[in-house]
Amino acid sequence: MNRFHIQGPNRLAGTIEAGGAKNATLPAMAASLLTDEPLVLRRVPRVQDIRTMARLLEHLGVENEADDEVVRLVPGGPGRPDDAPYELVKQMRAGVLVLGPLLARRGHARVSLPGGCAIGVRPIDQHLAGLEALGAEVTLEHGYVDARAKQLVGARYRFGMPTVGGTENLLMAAALARGTTRLENCAREPEIVDLARLLARMGAQIEGAGQDTIKIQGVESLSGAEHSIIADRIETGTYLVAAAMTGGDVTVTGTRAADLAPLLEKLAEAGCRIELGDDSLRLSLEGPLRARDVVTAPHPGFPTDLQAQYMALMTQADGVSTICETVFENRFQHVPELGRMGAHIEIDGSYARVHGPTGLSGAKVMATDLRASACLVLAGLAAEGRTVVDRIYHLDRGYEAMEHKLRALGARVERVSE
Ligand code: UD1
Repeated sequence: MNRFHIQGPNRLAGTIEAGGAKNATLPAMAASLLTDEPLVLRRVPRVQDIRTMARLLEHLGVENEADDEVVRLVPGGPGRPDDAPYELVKQMRAGVLVLGPLLARRGHARVSLPGGCAIGVRPIDQHLAGLEALGAEVTLEHGYVDARAKQLVGARYRFGMPTVGGTENLLMAAALARGTTRLENCAREPEIVDLARLLARMGAQIEGAGQDTIKIQGVESLSGAEHSIIADRIETGTYLVAAAMTGGDVTVTGTRAADLAPLLEKLAEAGCRIELGDDSLRLSLEGPLRARDVVTAPHPGFPTDLQAQYMALMTQADGVSTICETVFENRFQHVPELGRMGAHIEIDGSYARVHGPTGLSGAKVMATDLRASACLVLAGLAAEGRTVVDRIYHLDRGYEAMEHKLRALGARVERVSE
C-alpha cells in the first residue's frame, strides 16, 4: 500500500511538461482491435489504467511493446479470445471500450458489465442500444454483455445523453459497418476528436467529431497507423489549480489552452492571472482568491474530472461558492475528507456549498477515486503541517509520477510504501 506524505504549506513555482491524455490513449489502444496491422501510439502516459488496458488487449491477442512514451500494438493471428473478463473490467471501466471494435472486427464480443463505481452507477445502456441500432444482437447474462453481428450495418442513432465512452464505442463500431451511420447528441470531448483523428489515419471516414452529430461512412478494412496522443487536459488543470491553491506561479508546457477554456475562465474570474503561450499555460496568483460557482457539464462545460480539485481551491477563496455536479450522481466523496482537514462544506443533493477561506490543517485522509485523490493532494499542499493521503493507487491510475512533478515545483511530497 502506497501513501503520500505531504509537508505543508507549499508554494508551487516552476515549469513542468504535460503528459499525454489517459482518456484519449485508452480508446486509441482499443482501436488496435479494428485492424490486423500494427498501431504505434506516441505520448502515451505511464499510468496504471494504460497498463490495465495493455493486459486486456494481450488477453484479446494484441501484443504490446512499450518504449518510454511510445507503445506499439501488434494484433495477433486467429483463434484469439473475444471476451473482456470481469477481473480486468472491474479495475477500469474503460475496458468496455473493446466492445465496439471487437464486435465490428470479429463479429462477436463478450464483455463484463463494469458494475457500479465509487462515483456513481454508470450504466452502459447507451453503448448497447447504439450497437443494437447497428444490427447487433445483444444479450446480458452472468454479468456479461454478449454481442453478435455478422456484419454491422450503418444506421441513425441518437444518444439519450452525451456519453464519452458510448460515443467512442459507436465511432469505432461504425467505422467498419456497412453503409452510413449518423450519431446524434454525441459527446464532444477533445478525446473523441483525437480518436476520430486516429481512426481517419487508419482509413476511416468520419465527419463532425467534436460536434453534436457525427457521420461515419463505413469502410471494409482499416490499416495500421502512427498517432501522437493529445495532452492530458485534466492533468494540466490539476497542476494549474495546485498553483492557484498555493499562491504559486506555474507553467505547464506541451498543452492546449482551448481544451481547458471552462476551467481557465473560472480561474481568471477567481483572481488568477493566466498567460497563454503557443503550447503552454502559465498561472500565477498575486491577490486574494474570490469564490466562484461552478456547474459541471459535458464538454464544452466545466469538466466533472476537475470538480474535486476546484472544490479544494474554493476552500481557500474568499466567500461562499456553490458547486453543482450534474454528470455523476455520487461524486462528492472528497467532501468529508476535506472536512477532516478543516474545510467547511455543506452538501445538498448535487450541490456543495463551500465556505471560504478556511485555514486547512494536515490530517490523515483516504483517497476514494482518481480525481478525489488529486483533490486531497492539493489540499495537503496548502494545509499547515503533515497530510498523509492513503490509497494512492487511485492516483496512480491516472497521474504519471505526480510526486516527481510536484517536487519539481518545490513541493515537499514523499511516496511511502508499506
Ligand atoms: C469518461 C471519462 C471520465 C469522465 C467522464 C465524463 C474516460 C476513460 N473516462 O467516462 O474520466 O469523468 O467521461 O466526462 O474517458 N451514462 C449512462 N448510460 C450510458 C453511458 C453513460 O447513463 O450508457 C451516464 C453515466 O452514468 C454518467 C454520464 O452518462 O452519469 C456520463 O458518462 P460517460 O460520458 O459515459 O463517462 P465515461 O465514458 O464512463
